Amino acid sequence: MTLLFARSTRKVPVHFMMAVLLFLMTSFSIQAQTDKKAENAKFNEKCLKCHGQSKYKYLNPESGTEVTKRMYIETIIDRNQFAESNHRNFKCTDCHSEDYDSFPHPGRLRMETKYACIDCHGGDEKYAKFKFEQIEAEFQASVHSTKHSDDFNCWMCHNPHTYKINARSDEKIKDIVAYDNAICLNCHADITKYQMLTDKVNPNIVQKHQWLPNQALHFKNVRCIECHARANDSILVAHNIQPKSKAVRRCVECHSTNSMLMATLYKYKVQEGRSKAGFYNGVIMNEGYVIGANRNYYLGLISLIMFGCVAAGILIHASLRIIKRKK
Ligand code: HEC
Ligand code: HEC
Ligand code: HEC
Ligand code: HEC
Ligand code: HEC
Ligand code: HEC
Ligand code: HEC
Repeated sequence: MTLLFARSTRKVPVHFMMAVLLFLMTSFSIQAQTDKKAENAKFNEKCLKCHGQSKYKYLNPESGTEVTKRMYIETIIDRNQFAESNHRNFKCTDCHSEDYDSFPHPGRLRMETKYACIDCHGGDEKYAKFKFEQIEAEFQASVHSTKHSDDFNCWMCHNPHTYKINARSDEKIKDIVAYDNAICLNCHADITKYQMLTDKVNPNIVQKHQWLPNQALHFKNVRCIECHARANDSILVAHNIQPKSKAVRRCVECHSTNSMLMATLYKYKVQEGRSKAGFYNGVIMNEGYVIGANRNYYLGLISLIMFGCVAAGILIHASLRIIKRKK
């Protein structure tokens, strides 16, 4: 036994030992991460027992009885949506004050300053691919920001408790469209939300787009930002919403061989497709058919050949008849 052990230690190479060590270390850190996630989720239940549904209960210390109350609709957080959001692993108090732990919440917390995206993501290598700084600059130039710079911030479109990336993670273009358009319609189809920012009358979206044939079909297949945000090559989702006078109206912008959708809605797939197969028209071919956007060379060639054959057939037939008649 001792001999065997001695022999085996001699035989075990250093890098094997290192690998074992590394394995143990990573599994410990993965374990630590899952522990942390579970711990945070458990902590969040302390908040969600009240904020997770339409009713909440608390013990009235004066009377010693339990009171049931209705939760304000805008302070209700959907557990399931939170669990799928980008920040699902957070503790509520990573973004909110620790003092929310007590109830009733201290009044001064209403004035709590909230983090901006850039506070956490700015200059962070890990999120470089999202290009937060460029998005910030685009947003600053957008109509929303220029008209309502103090009140309009990133959270208005990126609900802190539900926002999740879609454009680069969802397989189905239609789902991305639905998700992204819901963000805009959240205000543009809801007068109370819209008027949190302005006293103007909310323009009726359906009426204002009456000029677009098959409006419902279009809104299922293209995003609002396709027509309303200035396309930008260097970021995936354009954030510079333009004044209405600059919105895309010309059909050929999309219904043409070099559809602008290649640089907007289909961009992520186009990039992926290019790197995989070097063939980007496939994106449109698979995803549905934008009239005019895909013209297949071989189909064209085949129909030309067929046309040629038919023409030749007619010609031969006709000349044979002429020859016959002459006889
Ligand atoms: C006993 C129920 C209860 C618990 C537990 C609870 N809250 Fe609340 N919370 C409320 C109610 C009711 C309101 C709305 C009235 C108010 O603002 O006090 C509220 C309001 C809030 C607000 C909005 C304040 C504002 O007006 O801007 C935040 C943020 C908040 N809670 C966070 C938390 C967090 C984080 C936790 C967990 C650490 C938590 N709450 C736990 C009942 C609760
Ligand atoms: C990534 C940061 C972040 C996390 C995590 C987070 N919140 Fe929030 N929460 C915010 C921000 C930012 C706002 C303000 C949104 C706004 O002003 O539109 C907010 C607003 C709220 C409000 C007030 C809603 C309103 O519109 O008045 C409540 C209640 C709340 N959060 C509770 C929670 C609870 C409970 C959790 C944990 C399940 C949680 N939050 C997790 C960032 C966060
Ligand atoms: C309090 C700090 C904080 C704030 C504020 C914050 N984030 Fe994050 N965000 C993080 C951290 C940390 C992660 C990584 C979470 C993880 O890996 O579980 C993350 C993840 C993300 C991801 C990547 C998700 C993925 O699956 O790769 C995106 C996109 C994102 N955040 C966008 C935003 C946007 C947009 C805002 C503002 C509306 C914002 N974040 C605000 C800290 C923050
Ligand atoms: C007018 C609405 C709106 C505002 C305001 C807004 N965004 Fe976005 N943002 C969107 C939409 C729509 C998407 C696409 C979501 C998807 O499908 O992934 C998006 C996507 C993103 C993404 C993911 C891009 C990617 O490459 O996957 C990041 C990061 C982001 N926004 C950051 C920000 C930051 C930072 C701000 C504030 C400076 C901001 N957004 C303000 C609408 C908005
Ligand atoms: C096919 C392109 C296209 C799409 C898709 C599109 N729009 Fe528009 N939109 C326009 C054009 C062009 C105008 C200008 C119409 C005018 O001046 O009468 C406009 C006008 C608007 C206006 C200004 C209305 C006013 O008169 O004040 C708003 C707000 C708007 N769109 C929001 C949206 C929202 C939200 C979506 C997504 C649900 C969307 N649009 C989708 C092209 C588009
Ligand atoms: C938080 C609410 C809110 C959200 C979310 C929102 N908007 Fe707006 N939007 C407004 C308000 C308010 C105005 C009116 C600004 C003004 O004229 O004072 C406006 C104006 C506009 C205009 C018209 C500008 C003009 O020239 O009159 C367009 C176009 C527009 N938004 C498109 C979008 C698109 C596209 C999205 C989604 C990516 C979006 N909005 C998301 C509130 C919102
Ligand atoms: C922002 C890009 C964009 C613009 C601008 C645009 N379209 Fe479309 N259009 C699409 C997409 C995407 C579809 C959906 C294709 C599909 O999957 O059926 C579509 C579908 C259609 C259809 C329906 C085809 C069918 O299968 O029934 C018609 C008709 C149409 N568009 C006409 C127009 C006209 C006319 C204009 C200009 C007034 C226009 N479109 C502007 C992108 C656009």
